[in-house]
Amino acid sequence: MLPKLNDKSLLKNQCFINGKWINSDADKTLPIRNPFDFSHITDVPIVSTKQVNFAVESAENAFQTWKNKSAIEKSKLLMRWYQLIHKNIDDLATILVLEQGKPYKEAIGEIKYAASYIEFYAEETKRIYGDILPSPFNDAKVFVVKQPIGVVGIITPWNFPIAMMVRKIAPALAAGCTVVIKPDEKAPLSAFAIMELANRAKIPKGVMNMVTGIPQEIGAIFTSNKHIKKISFTGSTKVGKLLMKACANQVKRITLELGGNAPFIVFEDANLDDAVDGLITAKFRNTGQTCVCANRIFVHKTIAKEFIKKLSKKVKNLKVGNGFNNVDVGPLIDNKALDKVVNLLADAKANGAVINEGGNTHELGGTFFEPTIISNVNSSMEIFETEIFGPIVSIVSFKTEDQVIQLANDTKYGLASYFYAKDMAKIWRVAEALEYGMVGVNRGAISSALVPFGGIKQSGMGREGSKYGLNDYLNIKYLCVSN
Ligand code: SIN
Repeated sequence: MLPKLNDKSLLKNQCFINGKWINSDADKTLPIRNPFDFSHITDVPIVSTKQVNFAVESAENAFQTWKNKSAIEKSKLLMRWYQLIHKNIDDLATILVLEQGKPYKEAIGEIKYAASYIEFYAEETKRIYGDILPSPFNDAKVFVVKQPIGVVGIITPWNFPIAMMVRKIAPALAAGCTVVIKPDEKAPLSAFAIMELANRAKIPKGVMNMVTGIPQEIGAIFTSNKHIKKISFTGSTKVGKLLMKACANQVKRITLELGGNAPFIVFEDANLDDAVDGLITAKFRNTGQTCVCANRIFVHKTIAKEFIKKLSKKVKNLKVGNGFNNVDVGPLIDNKALDKVVNLLADAKANGAVINEGGNTHELGGTFFEPTIISNVNSSMEIFETEIFGPIVSIVSFKTEDQVIQLANDTKYGLASYFYAKDMAKIWRVAEALEYGMVGVNRGAISSALVPFGGIKQSGMGREGSKYGLNDYLNIKYLCVSN
């Protein structure tokens, strides 16, 4: 049975093109299931190639007027959308838990986090400044103006279906771009609800379009349709590379927020209670299904025993269950995710890892897995180099600062990293040495609309959030005006 919504009309199961909710013109659909018990929620359209191209054409038409809207007008529309999201937060959270499985309190957190990007960029749209530069010519003045890129193809994941999408749309619209969005087909319903609220906020038709269907087909249109000038993608490194290759044909701009393998280092001088709390946040948020999740936990040899003891106490108390039941940890998204966690753990055990806590599929069945701690992990194990995307704390002990920096950087990824220490000289040294786009020092939660979120190496390129996030949607034009 579906949970009660205050406003049932927010539960949409159609795509949104040129200001209208539409079905697939081939009458094809995909089932959407609740990861808690695999129950069927609804079906969403598999749109045709023609429909996706029409969505792009609509965004291109809308771009011609949206790009000329004043900063004040854009800001007001964005703020109206922001307010409607807050007004409907309970229904949005209900839809999110239903299709994604995360604990309800985290769903509320995700929606507030998502809305904060709209609020931030509603303000920032008023600050897209140009520049006047010293002229290299006696007879000319030199100006720099910033212009919106054009239509943006947005592809988002299932782990934060609202936040990852909104943090792309908000800067795109603030910059003057229009968008065609493809939410993940595992969890598109909260994206549709957000779209409905944008429509109610009177964001003009064609500015935001949303399609679901066969990801490869939609991706191929986004990368080949000449009206799409940029792709913004959050998801796996594997798919990011395919998109990047396909974008090369038309030299399309691209923002990629890809996989991570975050180190979480606890030095011998760290406050252990703080480090344990920080780790619980950085590891178990969204049942460990977060790109910035702590993935490899490096603990100094001299404090490892005490740290594991303190951590075990907290991990034991994590409540696992249906996202609607005031829990800390929900189900994994699907059986494939569960198999991955089971296999990584089996490989680690076979190669000498020790189970300190949990270690099994959960008695609730389905895709539930026990919050788990393993130690004695080393760099030869699969779990060391793979993004776990599940509730396993994997502990490696280390002896020296040089050794742990080398181990922490020994990965193709470079998204988030964390460390706990008190010595100031060490804090600056380690923060500079970590090859990551983001470093949390004595803190396990670092995401915000006010900061530049993004990675280096194979974790992607471009930034989301803060003043830097706007640049990804703007072209710089230089004007040389001779008198
Ligand atoms: C992610 O999983 O990529 C996003 C998490 C966040 O924004 O904190």
